[in-house]
Amino acid sequence: MQLTIYNDYRELSSHAADAIIDCIKNKPMAVICLASGDTPRLTCSLFVQKVLEEKIDLSHCTFIGLDEWVGIPPENEGSCHYFFHTYIFGPLKLSPTQFYLFDALSNNLAEQCRQMDKIIADKGGIDLMIVGAGMNGHIGFNEPGVSIKNYAHVIELDEITQAVGQKYFNTPVTISKGITLGLQHLLESKQVIMLANGTKKAPVIKKAMEETISTQFPATVMRMHNNSLMMTDEEAASLL
Ligand code: F6R
Repeated sequence: MQLTIYNDYRELSSHAADAIIDCIKNKPMAVICLASGDTPRLTCSLFVQKVLEEKIDLSHCTFIGLDEWVGIPPENEGSCHYFFHTYIFGPLKLSPTQFYLFDALSNNLAEQCRQMDKIIADKGGIDLMIVGAGMNGHIGFNEPGVSIKNYAHVIELDEITQAVGQKYFNTPVTISKGITLGLQHLLESKQVIMLANGTKKAPVIKKAMEETISTQFPATVMRMHNNSLMMTDEEAASLL
């Protein structure tokens, strides 16, 4: 895995946005998977800005949402749906045929997982995944101890994820399960970029880079990928 350290969050986000644009320029039919959350927010906004300024044609590419909180409706401001619509799909006026998000209100979540796996397989796999790192090292909702063999699945959320996740919501919510792409998607993706910023992510990034590779700390699995990149700001890299 390569490591690139940028001066600050803005510089990091600008380069991450450029990485998405480069992927699409190289392959107009690219399949891009994005995480939501605080880390990629500026990347998404700068991506939108650059696409509009440079008049980049997105009409052939596909966007996949990495995960969603089970039971949280899409109009809730803490949902991943809300994030994607607010920061990407809405501003770019993307056609609904161009993005795929888990329906976490479905009464058949297993079918949601099967459908997402099929969509990704039918499109020839993911070209670029942009992920964040949870405080417990999770990627998407691949929580500590998850099977590395998993594709899309529903998972009980770790206590840390349930507690930290409250930051996205205006009022306290019960978030006990997540639906997520699996680590097999990550390992099979043609390129993976993990983003991390801020001092609070410094211990997470240290473990991701230096601990023995194990799903006990899923971010270490990034190092199993032969085209993976860790992009951080100075603060997140401060313990390396
Ligand atoms: C969200 C997701 C999560 C976050 C992670 C970091 O879609 O996949 O794994 O990437 O929890 O969240 P932030 O960026 O808010 O620190």
